[in-house]
Amino acid sequence: QTGAFTYDPGFTSTASCESSLTYIDGDEGVLLHRGYPIGQLAEHSSFMEVSYLLLNGELPSSEELDEFSYTISRHTMLHEQLATFYRGFRRDAHPMAIMCGVVGALSAFYHDSTDIADPQQRKIASHRLIAKMPTIAAMAYKYSVGQPFLYPDNSLSYTGNFLRMTFGVPAEPYEVNPVVERAMDRIFILHADHEQNASTSTVRLAGSSGANPFACIAAGIACLWGPAHGGANEAALNMLKEIGTPDKIPHYIDRAKDKNDPFRLMGFGHRVYKNYDPRATVMQKTVREVFEALKVNDPLFETALQLEEIALNDPYFIEKKLFPNVDFYSGIILSAIGFPTTMFTALFALARTVGWVAQWNEMISDPGQKIGRPRQLYTGPTERDYVTVDKR
Ligand code: SDX
Repeated sequence: QTGAFTYDPGFTSTASCESSLTYIDGDEGVLLHRGYPIGQLAEHSSFMEVSYLLLNGELPSSEELDEFSYTISRHTMLHEQLATFYRGFRRDAHPMAIMCGVVGALSAFYHDSTDIADPQQRKIASHRLIAKMPTIAAMAYKYSVGQPFLYPDNSLSYTGNFLRMTFGVPAEPYEVNPVVERAMDRIFILHADHEQNASTSTVRLAGSSGANPFACIAAGIACLWGPAHGGANEAALNMLKEIGTPDKIPHYIDRAKDKNDPFRLMGFGHRVYKNYDPRATVMQKTVREVFEALKVNDPLFETALQLEEIALNDPYFIEKKLFPNVDFYSGIILSAIGFPTTMFTALFALARTVGWVAQWNEMISDPGQKIGRPRQLYTGPTERDYVTVDKR
């Protein structure tokens, strides 16, 4: 492609697709979105700006960003009938179960943006998904705590709106804490896209059959829920709570190394990174900022820091090239901000929606794209004749 470099990391034969959105060098711990390093985007950009970048390929001018943010704000409300849909769930339903159900049902309410052959409908569906995920996630939280849903307030930022819908109540005004808003926005940036991870590949495969975008994103949410993937942030904090104090760390390190023990260090290791996940670096820095601003002192952060220190100096982890990943510290911040662990993966899904949508658009707008059809290595019996039951 003119101007774009095509880097072949030596596994072209197993590459599932070509994409220009995100580049990862797992050995060097590099993550670029349309060429921009994640550390610079997390430091200087906003989630709306990164969303525009992922969707359009370039950072927006201030006018383009204002127009994009305004367009997204036009879609933040949910069809009122969907509020009834929530009431069909048990109050203790996991927010990811609700998100799978509600997002999958969106195509039943927004028929005018399900025709994937129509670029305008694809664009509206993309904006609807990005705009409505905060509302959907906030409503899942409100439903779980028995509080009334709050409508979006478009005078707030994308992230401020989400925080208010989640933690605000009709009985009193809600003041968005700028430190929390900045930290949350940065967490959304860190989770926005990550090349062909399991849930993104799920969205692409579902999309390759021509399924409507809402169904494809619901498939991605279902895949992300697994503890080996997006469910790891919830599992990592639960693991830190189980470990408790630093003196218990050696016992858990031994368990993680024991092949007969299913215990894994959650938030550690990665299919691609064989170096420090650059997102974990930013996440750890953000914990310090949020804790200082909120005057929080969570002993689990100290446990996490010592666990990282011990693991990174342990021959097993060094030999296996296991480092903290994006999920290792995120739960500590989200917990300090006030989210229950059950909401952590829902927040990951909220942020990853822009990556899923951008990857889906890239795939569906490729005139040469065909339905995905992974093949297999057959290991079953060779051909044989049927045997009637009396002879078995
Ligand atoms: C995400 O793909 C993406 O991009 C995903 C993601 C994204 O943004 O979309 O980055 C988000 O999913 C991050 C990963 C979150 N998951 C976890 O933190 C769960 C804990 N991690 C492990 O389950 C594991 O590291 C995986 C699932 C992430 C990767 O597993 P692999 O493919 O087995 O990793 P590997 O091949 O590098 O493992 C090398 C060895 C293996 O042992 P051997 O078979 O060589 O004897 O290290 C072992 C693994 O068993 N190992 C671990 C370990 N992770 C790998 N041992 C202990 N603790 C761990 N966490």
